[in-house]
Amino acid sequence: MPHYGDYQNLIYGAGLQGVSPKLPVDFATLVARATAAMPPQVLTYVQGGCGDEWTQDRNAAAFRHWGMVPRMMIDTRQRDLSVELFGLTLPSPLFMAPVGVIGICTQDGHGDLAAARASAMTGVPLCASTLSNDPLEDVKVACGDTPAFFQLYTPKDRGVAESLIGRAEAAGYKALVVTLDTWVTGWRPRDLNVANFPQLRGHVLQNYFTDPIFQKLLGKPVAQHLPEAIGLWGANFARPIVWEDIAWFKSVTKLPIVLKGICHPDDARRAADLGADAIYCSNHGGRQANGGIAAIDLLPGVVAAAGSVPVLFDSGIRSGTDVVKALALGARAVGVGRPYAYGLALDGAAGCAHVLKCLLAEADLLMAVNGYPTVAAVRAAGATKV
Ligand code: GLV
Repeated sequence: MPHYGDYQNLIYGAGLQGVSPKLPVDFATLVARATAAMPPQVLTYVQGGCGDEWTQDRNAAAFRHWGMVPRMMIDTRQRDLSVELFGLTLPSPLFMAPVGVIGICTQDGHGDLAAARASAMTGVPLCASTLSNDPLEDVKVACGDTPAFFQLYTPKDRGVAESLIGRAEAAGYKALVVTLDTWVTGWRPRDLNVANFPQLRGHVLQNYFTDPIFQKLLGKPVAQHLPEAIGLWGANFARPIVWEDIAWFKSVTKLPIVLKGICHPDDARRAADLGADAIYCSNHGGRQANGGIAAIDLLPGVVAAAGSVPVLFDSGIRSGTDVVKALALGARAVGVGRPYAYGLALDGAAGCAHVLKCLLAEADLLMAVNGYPTVAAVRAAGATKV
């Protein structure tokens, strides 16, 4: 049975032929390479966060104060990283978190399709963002047989919101991930210093521009009236979501509803009580509000409060070790963000797939060495604050 960890054998094997990996396998070198290669306006948007980026930095740094204890004399030659989510059996807990500008992370401007192809290649689901340079239907097709989820910024106009949700359901996405923390953009000095917000330049708005209800609202062809179309998008982008909206979401779609941005146990409890199908613990990679506690430190409280409702996690994942720690702290599925955006920027779908394979290989080998043959074993072992 093949294992994700076999990726290291491929790398060492190629080394015997004098071939080193095209992209690095560690995050620090990856980010250095991407920093040198990416256009500055894309880089600042992807790399930057809110305020002085304290929360963004803490998200990643906080993993360093969680540690695991290995168990020995367990046969881990066969490992099973699969998890159950939304009635699906996923081959691993890893997924690509929604990133609104992956469309412009590749030079051809089709980064969403490249990420989708990486998903098809690796079996790692893509949570496709509403902000996309290609329509959600095309992105879904490019995911091949790998299931995908759709992330929603909920437009102010209910008709546009329902239309996007209906399109996602019709296209075959398996869950609706409702972002709760982004009806307004956080204060992002790196972007503000260069007065650059890609969406206002017409980037990543194809889901809106191809939407029949959005087009009707605009009342004229998008292509000939781009500034007005962008203005309409800006005026309509998103509204604050309140608890009563869960019932509304459930009335307009049969897709499982995932609430993204839940960090407080009381919010997790209420979301579970009101019928959320999953809770997504995330502080948006530190992009939205500065000053927040690292998301990984909040995960155990959210998991405890969520009861039987599955908890997805992102914010600060930089390695396979981080993935395993998040599982140990109770996440059902773990999202990676910036690292795959860098992989896309450096080598398109192949670069993105490489980043995902490295994360999976590191996680798998850690489980092999530590005596954790399954995700359940990881969770049972847990992690300790050190
Ligand atoms: C949008 O969600 C962003 O993080 O820029």
